[in-house]
Amino acid sequence: MNKVLYGLVVLLFFSVVQFNVSDTFAGKIDYKKIYNNQCRKCHGKDGKGTKRGKGLGVPNFSDGEWQDATTDKQMITTITNGKKKMPKQGHKLSPEEIKAMVKYIRFFAPKKKRY
Ligand code: HEC
Repeated sequence: MNKVLYGLVVLLFFSVVQFNVSDTFAGKIDYKKIYNNQCRKCHGKDGKGTKRGKGLGVPNFSDGEWQDATTDKQMITTITNGKKKMPKQGHKLSPEEIKAMVKYIRFFAPKKKRY
């Protein structure tokens, strides 16, 4: 009987942990889909920028120095309101989705500089 109880507690624990993990990845927000649909054409699959993007002046998201020099707040402002050739996304994405995109952009940082 005790073993069953223990098993249940363990099961409960893991389901809670799993829930939290998916939560840190911004819950139900499919940031990958958003990126592929709305950002990739300029920023590229690897974050370095496509030919079109480079022509418009996109930064290289995989550059550690760029990552260090750019704050989350700055990214949120740029994604929401746009900046020069970067089209504003505030009317297309919710504030939660924009925050998720900032997290996604951090994934492009070189491994040792990952946030
Ligand atoms: C039409 C091409 C285009 C698309 C689409 C686009 N961007 Fe950009 N993005 C740019 C350009 C150009 C810049 C550089 C702006 C500058 O500093 O002159 C930029 C800059 C940025 C920056 C750097 C912000 C900063 O303050 O330095 C972030 C972050 C960013 N884009 C995120 C996104 C996200 C997220 C999406 C999709 C939701 C997206 N972009 C879609 C062209 C694009």
